[in-house]
This record gives sequence, structure tokens and C-alpha cells, in this order.
Amino acid sequence: MNEVYLPSEDTFLLMDAIKDVPYVKKAVEVGSGSGLVSAMLTYKSDYVIATDIDLNSCYATLKRLRKHGQRTNTDVVCCNLLSPFREGSGFDLIVFNPPYLPDECLKDASVFGGKHGVEISIEFLNQARHVLSRSGRVLLVVSSVSDLGKLWRAASRLKLDHKMLKSVRLFFEEISVVEFKKSA
Ligand SMILES: C[S@@+](CC[C@H](N)C(=O)[O-])C[C@H]1O[C@@H](n2cnc3c(N)ncnc32)[C@H](O)[C@@H]1O
Repeated sequence: MNEVYLPSEDTFLLMDAIKDVPYVKKAVEVGSGSGLVSAMLTYKSDYVIATDIDLNSCYATLKRLRKHGQRTNTDVVCCNLLSPFREGSGFDLIVFNPPYLPDECLKDASVFGGKHGVEISIEFLNQARHVLSRSGRVLLVVSSVSDLGKLWRAASRLKLDHKMLKSVRLFFEEISVVEFKKSA
């Protein structure tokens, strides 16, 4: 188990993008960490599932949701990406602030996203496509330090259109929130 990821610039950028999204029926956050983003999603959706591969992070999320009385429309699942959910689950909104730093040895699951920084994000999009409703949207945090060309090519193979929603420049990278939708 890793340290629970503390809310940072990328967390706040994702929350800023979620503010502009319309209210939905079913939302899921992958990699919920401290649970701050999932707690916000409870104001944006009838039903929210928070998932994380790290058990400590799942407990932290649960604790936050309980503390704020947000346990009536939420579930927390410890799992890899979206693997427990069946094809056609019909999520209207799927959000992920993934580990995106490039590194081959995945020492810390909260920050390292694979050799080119996008491997976990690509597998996430692959799974998201199967559980996303027809008009649903995926919000994914990306960074200029990872191989974004590889991510765009994978999205296009998966027939997902993408659009940049928000960006912020930090001292060594630019981070953005990208929206993916199924191509028409
Ligand atoms: C950058 S942190 C983001 C945490 C939180 N959502 C936030 O924005 O502050 C990435 C999170 O993804 C989780 N994670 C990494 N790989 C995962 C996977 N394969 N499936 C589910 N969660 C994963 C990590 O444990 C970590 O909590």
C-alpha cells in the first residue's frame, strides 16, 4: 500500500472541470485517493462509485464521504481501474486523475503511469469505452511530461473523440483535463 495522494494542482484542475459538467445519473471516479473529487461528484450525480487500487486510499475516501454525510448515494470499491464493471454499465461520467509520470518500474501507483506515462491511461480508456453510456463523457488529467501523441493515437483507435477543457502551467509541466466522448 502507498501513501494516500494529497490533493494537489491536478486534483483542483479536475474539480474545476467537473464544475462545468451537467448533472448526471451515474458517475464513477477511478483512483479516488483522498476522496475529495468523489465527494464533489456527489453534488453532480444521483449515484457515485469511487474506486482505487490502493486500500488505504479506499479507506480515506470512505472516511471523507462518511464525515460529510455523503454515504447515501455512494459506494467505494478497491479494484484495478474499471475491471469489476460489466460491459454496458452505462456510466454518464467517468473521471480519473491518473498516475502520469513516465517510469518503467511502477514504484508508486499514485504517480508513475508506465514507461511513457500514458500506459495506465490507455488501459483506462480501453475499459472506460465499454462502461460509458452512449452520450457519456470521460474526464482525464494528462501531463506534457508524458507521451501524449501515444495517448491520442490510442483514443482514436478506440473511436473516442477528445477535447481539451482546462490547462495549467506548473514549473516543469503543463497539466490539462481532457474530455473523451464516443465518436458519432
Ligand atoms: C494522482 S492520484 C489522484 C488521487 C485523487 N483522485 C486526487 O485527484 O487527488 C492517482 C490515484 O490513482 C490510484 N491508482 C493508480 N493506479 C490505479 C489503478 N490501476 N486502478 C485504480 N486506481 C489506481 C492511486 O492509488 C492514486 O490514489
